[in-house]
Amino acid sequence: MTAGKSSRFAHAVNIDDLRRLAKRRLPKAVFDYLDGGAEGEVTLRENCRVFDDVGFRPRQAVAFKECGLATKVLGFDLSFPLMLAPVGYSRLMHPIGEVGAARVAGQSGIGYILSTISGHSLEKVRAATKGPAWYQLYLVGARETAELAIDRARRAGFDALVLTVDTPVAGMRERDPRNGMKELLGGSLLAKLPYIPNILAHPRWLAGFLADGGVPKLENIVIPGKGPMELIDVSAALSSAVVTWEDMAWIRKAWPGPIIVKGILIGDDARRAVDEGAAAVVVSNHGGRQLDSVSPTLRALPEVVSAVKGQAEVLMDGGVRRGSDSVKALCLGAKAVLAGRAYAYGLGAGGEAGVSRAVEILREGTERTMRLLGCPSVSELDRSYVSLGDQKF
Ligand code: FNR
Repeated sequence: MTAGKSSRFAHAVNIDDLRRLAKRRLPKAVFDYLDGGAEGEVTLRENCRVFDDVGFRPRQAVAFKECGLATKVLGFDLSFPLMLAPVGYSRLMHPIGEVGAARVAGQSGIGYILSTISGHSLEKVRAATKGPAWYQLYLVGARETAELAIDRARRAGFDALVLTVDTPVAGMRERDPRNGMKELLGGSLLAKLPYIPNILAHPRWLAGFLADGGVPKLENIVIPGKGPMELIDVSAALSSAVVTWEDMAWIRKAWPGPIIVKGILIGDDARRAVDEGAAAVVVSNHGGRQLDSVSPTLRALPEVVSAVKGQAEVLMDGGVRRGSDSVKALCLGAKAVLAGRAYAYGLGAGGEAGVSRAVEILREGTERTMRLLGCPSVSELDRSYVSLGDQKF
C-alpha cells in the first residue's frame, strides 16, 4: 500500500488534521478556493453534518479474519469503495497535482477521476496510474474542443467519461472574489498587489509554485489553432460550459465507453440519465459549490437509488471525511463514494504524501467501521446496519 509514503503525515489522525495542515501551507486564496462553498455555505455544512443523523446498528460478538472491502464499479476493481473525485486546479495546491493524486489512487487500488480543469495533461495523468481512470468532461470552449478532448482521453486509455451536469453557471463562492482569486490568476500586477502579502507569507507553497513555472495552462482544453487555454477564473470557465440532455446524443457517439452523469439530486433526473444511456450516476451537489440550499447528498441518495431501479450504478459524493461516512452511504444504497476535499486537503498539506495519508485514513476507517459493525463484506451492507431515527431519508 502507500504506508511508506504517507508516514510523513502519520501525525495526521483524521482528515480535519490534514485540512489544518493545508490551511497552514497554502495561501488564503488557494485554501479558500478548495475549502469554500457557494453563498451561505449551507449545503457545504449540511453535506458533512447529515452523516450525524445516521446511527449504526452493530451486530456484536461477530469475528471474521478477512474484511471484504473490495468492490467493483462498472466492472472496475476497487480495493475499497472509494474513488478520488475530479478537483479542478489541483496543480495550484501542489505542483504534483493531478499526477500525484492519480498515482496514489493507482497504488492504493482505487479509481481516479481527472477534471477537465487540469494543469497536467490527461496523457501524463493516465500514465501515472494503472488503476481505473475516468475523464470528467466540461464543455468548455466549442463542441470541437470537447470532441478533441474526448478523442485524446480515449487514445490515452481513460476507462470512462464523467459528464458533470450541475454547472450551467458557476456557483457564487464568496470567498474567491474576496481573496482576489481572479486578479491573482490573470490580473495586472497592480490588481494583484493587495493580495501579494498573503502569498509571500506562504514561502513553501510559493517556492514550489515558482519552480513549477507559475500559473499552469489548462492542458486538456486545446482551442483549435490557439493551443491550451490560459488558466482563467473559475466562473468564466464554468459559465461557458453548459451541458444539456440533448448533448448526451453526440457525446455518446464520440465516446464508445461507459458514461457517468455526475451532479444528480432528484429521482427524475436520475431516470433521465439512465434513459439517455448513463451507466452510472453520481449523487452530488458539487461539494456545496454550486446551488446553495440543495439537499445534502446523503439525504438525496435514497430517492435516486429507488428511481434508477438497479438499471445503473449509483455513486455519491459530498462531505465524506471518514470511513464511517462511506459505510453509511453504502448502507443507503451507494456502490462507492467519491472523495473531493478529503484528498485535496492532503495534496495541499504536502503533495503525494498527503494524498496517501488521506486515502489511508479513509481506508482504515472503512475497515475499522466494518469490523465494529460486525459486517464482513461491503457487499452485505444495507439499511439494517443503520438507524435513521425520525429523520426522513
Ligand atoms: C470540485 N468539484 C469538481 N467537480 C467536477 O465535476 N469538476 C471539477 O473540475 C471540480 N472541481 C472541484 C474543485 C474543488 C476545489 C472542489 C472542492 C470540488 C466537485 C468534486 O468533484 C466533488 O463533487 C466534491 O468535492 C465532493 O464533495 P467533498 O468530498 O469535497 O465534500
